[in-house]
Amino acid sequence: MAKFRTLNDLPAPKGKRILLRADLNVPMKDGVISDTTRIDRLSPTIRELADAGAKVIVCSHFDRPKGKRVPEMSLKPLAAALSRSLNRPVAFANDCVGPEAEAAVAKLNDGDILLLENTRYHAGEEKNDPALSAGLAKLADAYVNDAFSAAHRAHSSTEGVAHLLPSYAGRLMQAELEALDAALGNPSRPLMAIVGGAKISTKLDLLGNLSSKVDMLVIGGAMANTFLAAQGHQVGKSLQEADMHETARTIMAEAKGKGCEIILPVDLRVAEAFAANAPNRVVGIDAVPADMMALDVGPKTVALVEEKLMKAQTLVWNGPFGAFEIPPFDMATVQVAESVAGLTASAGLKSIGGGGDTVSALRHAGVAERMTYVSSAGGAFLEWLEGKELPGVKALEAA
Ligand code: 3PG
Repeated sequence: MAKFRTLNDLPAPKGKRILLRADLNVPMKDGVISDTTRIDRLSPTIRELADAGAKVIVCSHFDRPKGKRVPEMSLKPLAAALSRSLNRPVAFANDCVGPEAEAAVAKLNDGDILLLENTRYHAGEEKNDPALSAGLAKLADAYVNDAFSAAHRAHSSTEGVAHLLPSYAGRLMQAELEALDAALGNPSRPLMAIVGGAKISTKLDLLGNLSSKVDMLVIGGAMANTFLAAQGHQVGKSLQEADMHETARTIMAEAKGKGCEIILPVDLRVAEAFAANAPNRVVGIDAVPADMMALDVGPKTVALVEEKLMKAQTLVWNGPFGAFEIPPFDMATVQVAESVAGLTASAGLKSIGGGGDTVSALRHAGVAERMTYVSSAGGAFLEWLEGKELPGVKALEAA
């Protein structure tokens, strides 16, 4: 893993103004935060800095206002939410740079916390505009990035400003980087990956990168239908990408050449319609009726995956096996998740999950707290699985 500075390397924080890049892009419905995970995971870094006497200046984007002051995308409600999570006051400034932000920073006492308005209210943020980066840098003596989930964006507050101030990884960023390194950087082997999702076409880079790194690659989700169809199986009305059969065959052949075993479903749970509790049954992969669709993998596949899991030392999981949002097509995901949690506790399996639907699926299965690590990132986790360099992380690397 590349070396990066952490809060352990931050000299004498007392009295220092610290610009803390957070990811407060939390799910919100009608002004109410529906999931506080990102806030709760950020709190330890804020607390540590404030307790050490730093003046903590938190900045973040929220949603995609595209350079305009969209009132529904204000971070103001997040000040109260942060305050609740930290159980201490959090002030708010109506702008993230300029006179208003500077005045709010000037009022801070040691240990105080300030939240700045949405960085994306400025068009310069997404353009990584040096003027905006300089405006942010002017507010602080040092920069701490705790927003791994926004690290795939080369924006002013995630990348540009890191070059203008002494920069450090916050505790959440550090935890993410260490967990990811344990997963793909320097893993205990055998290393297994479970990848689900609807389309091969959106996960080509990810499949290519994983098949060159892992020992076993389990394919689930609708993507598995494309692989099965590419091998000549009839998949009925199942979701699949007919134009990706050749690609699927190439992925399989290349994986084999790299010593990666690809594990596909051996049975499927099929239904007549994509609906909760739709009449369903389990069939072999050669017996999918023409008028039915696969919505989950079947029990023999679960048993096969469990057998392979017993051999694994490390697991990276991205994407559910089936349509886990609608019962009973969550069955395979829940059963495998239970086994993963069990092996994590009893056999020292290092289990790391993240990206898109995965966190919801693991929560639904009730195992999110029992995995070794569940990433708070969506797109950033996927780009990392693709083997891409994340600009927000790169900028933190110690020279
Ligand atoms: C996320 O929620 O994945 C991050 O905050 C990044 O958001 P973005 O896709 O709008 O850049």
